[in-house]
Amino acid sequence: MVRVTQMSLLFVLVMVSSAFEKTNGQKNVFRPRCPVGWTKYNEHCIFYVSQALDWAAAEANCLVLGAHLVSIHSESEYRMVKALIHAHDPSDKPTWLGLSNCQKRDSWFWSDGSKFDYSKWNKEEPNHSNGECCVNLNWDNQKNWNDMPCNAAHPSVCSKKAA
Ligand SMILES: *[C@@H]1O[C@H](CO)[C@@H](O)[C@H](O)[C@H]1NC(C)=O
Repeated sequence: MVRVTQMSLLFVLVMVSSAFEKTNGQKNVFRPRCPVGWTKYNEHCIFYVSQALDWAAAEANCLVLGAHLVSIHSESEYRMVKALIHAHDPSDKPTWLGLSNCQKRDSWFWSDGSKFDYSKWNKEEPNHSNGECCVNLNWDNQKNWNDMPCNAAHPSVCSKKAA
Protein backbone atom coordinates (compact mmCIF):
# COMPACT_ATOMS: atom_id res chain seq x y z
CA MET A 1 0.00 0.00 0.00
CA VAL A 2 2.76 2.42 1.00
CA ARG A 3 4.56 1.52 -2.20
CA VAL A 4 1.50 2.34 -4.33
CA THR A 5 1.18 5.73 -2.61
CA GLN A 6 4.84 6.48 -3.26
CA MET A 7 4.45 5.53 -6.88
CA SER A 8 1.43 7.77 -7.38
CA LEU A 9 3.19 10.64 -5.59
CA LEU A 10 6.12 10.20 -7.96
CA PHE A 11 3.71 10.21 -10.88
CA VAL A 12 2.16 13.47 -9.72
CA LEU A 13 5.60 15.06 -9.31
CA VAL A 14 6.61 14.03 -12.81
CA MET A 15 3.39 15.47 -14.24
CA VAL A 16 3.81 18.74 -12.35
CA SER A 17 7.43 19.18 -13.41
CA SER A 18 6.68 18.44 -17.06
CA ALA A 19 3.86 21.01 -16.88
CA PHE A 20 6.42 23.54 -15.63
CA GLU A 21 8.75 22.68 -18.45
CA LYS A 22 5.99 23.36 -20.91
CA THR A 23 5.22 26.75 -19.40
CA ASN A 24 8.90 27.71 -19.42
CA GLY A 25 9.29 26.45 -22.95
CA GLN A 26 6.44 28.60 -24.18
CA LYS A 27 7.89 31.66 -22.50
CA ASN A 28 11.03 31.18 -24.56
CA VAL A 29 9.21 30.99 -27.88
CA PHE A 30 10.08 34.12 -29.89
CA ARG A 31 6.95 35.92 -30.99
CA PRO A 32 7.71 38.58 -33.59
CA ARG A 33 5.85 41.83 -33.08
CA CYS A 34 4.73 44.85 -35.06
CA PRO A 35 5.28 48.53 -34.21
CA VAL A 36 2.28 50.40 -32.80
CA GLY A 37 -0.14 51.33 -35.58
CA TRP A 38 0.93 48.43 -37.86
CA THR A 39 -1.31 45.41 -38.42
CA LYS A 40 0.20 41.97 -37.97
CA TYR A 41 -0.48 39.38 -40.62
CA ASN A 42 1.36 36.06 -40.65
CA GLU A 43 4.96 37.12 -40.06
CA HIS A 44 4.46 40.57 -41.55
CA CYS A 45 3.37 44.01 -40.42
CA ILE A 46 1.34 46.13 -42.83
CA PHE A 47 0.59 49.84 -42.73
CA TYR A 48 -1.82 52.01 -44.74
CA VAL A 49 -0.48 55.30 -46.11
CA SER A 50 -3.37 57.62 -46.94
CA GLN A 51 -1.23 60.32 -48.59
CA ALA A 52 -1.50 60.16 -52.39
CA LEU A 53 2.02 59.62 -53.80
CA ASP A 54 3.40 58.45 -57.12
CA TRP A 55 4.66 54.85 -57.09
CA ALA A 56 8.34 55.72 -56.57
CA ALA A 57 7.55 58.20 -53.79
CA ALA A 58 5.29 55.60 -52.15
CA GLU A 59 8.10 53.00 -52.21
CA ALA A 60 10.58 55.60 -50.91
CA ASN A 61 8.17 56.45 -48.10
CA CYS A 62 7.93 52.75 -47.15
CA LEU A 63 11.76 52.52 -47.15
CA VAL A 64 11.90 55.34 -44.58
CA LEU A 65 9.64 53.15 -42.40
CA GLY A 66 11.99 50.16 -42.84
CA ALA A 67 9.52 48.56 -45.24
CA HIS A 68 8.62 48.17 -48.91
CA LEU A 69 5.37 48.55 -50.77
CA VAL A 70 3.32 45.46 -49.95
CA SER A 71 3.68 42.25 -51.96
CA ILE A 72 0.86 39.72 -52.16
CA HIS A 73 1.31 35.96 -52.46
CA SER A 74 -2.07 34.39 -51.75
CA GLU A 75 -5.79 35.00 -51.79
CA SER A 76 -5.81 35.35 -47.99
CA GLU A 77 -3.04 37.98 -48.09
CA TYR A 78 -4.96 39.77 -50.81
CA ARG A 79 -8.11 39.84 -48.65
CA MET A 80 -6.12 41.05 -45.64
CA VAL A 81 -4.63 43.97 -47.59
CA LYS A 82 -8.04 44.90 -49.00
CA ALA A 83 -9.52 44.79 -45.49
CA LEU A 84 -6.76 47.07 -44.17
CA ILE A 85 -7.42 49.57 -46.97
CA HIS A 86 -11.18 49.39 -46.40
CA ALA A 87 -10.74 50.06 -42.67
CA HIS A 88 -9.03 53.38 -43.52
CA ASP A 89 -10.83 54.19 -46.75
CA PRO A 90 -14.42 52.86 -46.93
CA SER A 91 -14.63 54.06 -50.57
CA ASP A 92 -11.83 51.59 -51.53
CA LYS A 93 -9.89 53.97 -53.77
CA PRO A 94 -7.10 52.60 -56.01
CA THR A 95 -4.03 51.93 -53.84
CA TRP A 96 -0.43 51.10 -54.82
CA LEU A 97 1.06 47.65 -54.46
CA GLY A 98 4.81 46.97 -54.80
CA LEU A 99 4.41 45.37 -58.24
CA SER A 100 5.84 46.73 -61.50
CA ASN A 101 7.07 45.59 -64.92
CA CYS A 102 8.83 48.74 -66.10
CA GLN A 103 12.01 46.89 -67.11
CA LYS A 104 10.37 44.42 -69.48
CA ARG A 105 6.77 43.77 -70.41
CA ASP A 106 6.38 40.21 -69.12
CA SER A 107 8.75 40.50 -66.16
CA TRP A 108 6.89 41.39 -63.00
CA PHE A 109 8.87 42.33 -59.92
CA TRP A 110 7.79 43.01 -56.34
CA SER A 111 9.81 45.87 -54.81
CA ASP A 112 10.56 43.71 -51.74
CA GLY A 113 12.38 41.18 -53.93
CA SER A 114 9.88 38.38 -53.34
CA LYS A 115 8.73 35.99 -56.05
CA PHE A 116 5.84 36.88 -58.35
CA ASP A 117 3.64 33.86 -57.65
CA TYR A 118 0.13 35.28 -57.34
CA SER A 119 -1.95 37.85 -59.18
CA LYS A 120 -5.49 39.17 -59.17
CA TRP A 121 -5.94 41.27 -62.33
CA ASN A 122 -9.13 42.98 -63.38
CA LYS A 123 -10.53 41.61 -66.63
CA GLU A 124 -8.59 42.98 -69.66
CA GLU A 125 -5.71 43.97 -67.41
CA PRO A 126 -2.79 44.46 -67.42
CA ASN A 127 -3.21 46.24 -70.77
CA HIS A 128 0.16 48.10 -70.80
CA SER A 129 -1.56 51.08 -72.39
CA ASN A 130 0.91 53.96 -72.97
CA GLY A 131 3.64 52.02 -71.19
CA GLU A 132 1.89 51.95 -67.82
CA CYS A 133 3.86 49.59 -65.60
CA CYS A 134 3.03 50.12 -61.91
CA VAL A 135 0.23 48.16 -60.25
CA ASN A 136 -2.57 49.19 -57.94
CA LEU A 137 -5.56 47.36 -56.53
CA ASN A 138 -9.18 48.47 -56.06
CA TRP A 139 -9.37 49.52 -59.70
CA ASP A 140 -12.73 50.27 -61.31
CA ASN A 141 -15.80 48.11 -60.57
CA GLN A 142 -14.01 44.79 -60.10
CA LYS A 143 -11.69 46.34 -57.48
CA ASN A 144 -8.84 44.02 -58.37
CA TRP A 145 -5.43 44.81 -59.93
CA ASN A 146 -4.62 47.17 -62.75
CA ASP A 147 -1.44 48.54 -64.30
CA MET A 148 -1.27 52.33 -64.10
CA PRO A 149 1.13 55.10 -65.08
CA CYS A 150 3.72 55.17 -62.28
CA ASN A 151 3.37 58.93 -61.88
CA ALA A 152 -0.30 58.67 -60.84
CA ALA A 153 -0.81 59.60 -57.18
CA HIS A 154 -2.48 57.04 -54.92
CA PRO A 155 -2.51 55.93 -51.30
CA SER A 156 -0.35 52.86 -50.63
CA VAL A 157 0.33 49.96 -48.27
CA CYS A 158 3.76 49.31 -46.76
CA SER A 159 4.86 45.95 -45.41
CA LYS A 160 7.83 44.65 -43.41
CA LYS A 161 8.73 41.51 -41.51
CA ALA A 162 7.54 41.36 -37.93
CA ALA A 163 10.60 41.59 -35.62
C1 LIG B 1 -6.08 50.21 -70.22
O1 LIG B 1 -6.32 50.33 -68.86
C2 LIG B 1 -6.51 51.65 -68.41
C3 LIG B 1 -6.57 51.61 -66.91
O2 LIG B 1 -5.29 51.42 -66.43
C4 LIG B 1 -7.77 52.21 -69.02
O3 LIG B 1 -7.99 53.53 -68.57
C5 LIG B 1 -7.63 52.19 -70.51
O4 LIG B 1 -8.83 52.59 -71.11
C6 LIG B 1 -7.26 50.80 -71.02
N1 LIG B 1 -6.89 50.90 -72.42
C7 LIG B 1 -7.33 50.04 -73.33
C8 LIG B 1 -6.79 50.25 -74.69
O5 LIG B 1 -8.06 49.12 -73.04
